[in-house]
Amino acid sequence: MKLSITSQVGLAITAILSSTDAFPTKPVPQRQLLICSDSTTMPYGKTSLIQGWGFYMHNFFNLNITNLARGGRSTRSFINEGLWGSLVASIVPGEGTIVLIEMGHNDNGDPTTDTKFRATLPGIGHESVVVASNATGGTTERVYTFGHYLRKMISDVKHAGGVPILSGMVPIMSWNGGVLETDWAFADYEREVAEQEHVEYIDHTKYAVNRWQAFRSVNATAPYYPLDDFTHTSWPGAEINTEAFVTAVKCEKRSLFRQSQLAPYLNANASHIEYQC
Ligand SMILES: *[C@@H]1O[C@H](CO)[C@@H](O)[C@H](O)[C@H]1NC(C)=O
Ligand SMILES: *[C@@H]1O[C@H](CO)[C@@H](O)[C@H](O)[C@H]1NC(C)=O
Ligand SMILES: *[C@@H]1O[C@H](CO)[C@@H](O)[C@H](O)[C@H]1NC(C)=O
Ligand SMILES: *[C@@H]1O[C@H](CO)[C@@H](O)[C@H](O)[C@H]1NC(C)=O
Repeated sequence: MKLSITSQVGLAITAILSSTDAFPTKPVPQRQLLICSDSTTMPYGKTSLIQGWGFYMHNFFNLNITNLARGGRSTRSFINEGLWGSLVASIVPGEGTIVLIEMGHNDNGDPTTDTKFRATLPGIGHESVVVASNATGGTTERVYTFGHYLRKMISDVKHAGGVPILSGMVPIMSWNGGVLETDWAFADYEREVAEQEHVEYIDHTKYAVNRWQAFRSVNATAPYYPLDDFTHTSWPGAEINTEAFVTAVKCEKRSLFRQSQLAPYLNANASHIEYQC
């Protein structure tokens, strides 16, 4: 059969249309990223004075981000209250679900006297202490170091088929004259555990300190901390901490040719975040 010119052109156009619209209408599912953290990261509702930096993460990454951060939690209480168990249950084996763990704001304190049952022992060692607590069902609870709980989290994520990444906590506005504190013990412990366990560490602490240091005084940062607690940011303050996270990802050199595992997912918004490494 001999087709007319017009019907051949028609067939060609039909072919082009069906091949082009096969793609835009079916977006490729995005890789999952789950966030485990505390009040400095969690999402707050419309009427809240404060916001967590995890709230803005989806603006900068081509990732399907679920912010499971919860206020007031430490590594210990996040696990004891079952929040960790449900996070791990939502890891999809075989899909490389990334689990970003940024903890430390609530792990400080003395576990033997802490009435919130969240303090952990400092450091990353193997020591433990038995305290009076009903947090694990009985009347006592063996409490371990911050590093112990991080190692458990890393191991659980790997066993579930996910990819753990640790991140250093954002700073509290602890200024000495014109200098913001740069030394955050719980960020150091996170980095040490990451090195020990051969998982990625994102230096969110360093780049967040850099951003806040640029304000030069605690008073200049005050408008960004509306609760006057030097810890919880306003919405614009949260954006500063999110941008600091993006900067940390962009600046990271795991080795000469090895970038952050999150770098391939940075989007056009992220390319406009240009701060010094
Ligand atoms: C993101 O993840 C949720 C929960 O797993 C899923 O329902 C949704 O379809 C995902 N979205 C994309 C764009 O992958
Ligand atoms: C870029 O950020 C803006 C908010 O500043 C947001 O509305 C937009 O969706 C973001 N773009 C992408 C691709 O996420
Ligand atoms: C644990 O003890 C606290 C008070 O210290 C109490 O409020 C809570 O109900 C107890 N939880 C359980 C499960 O017994
Ligand atoms: C910061 O603010 C406090 C209270 O408003 C004020 O007393 C203090 O002098 C200010 N410090 C500087 C360095 O401006």
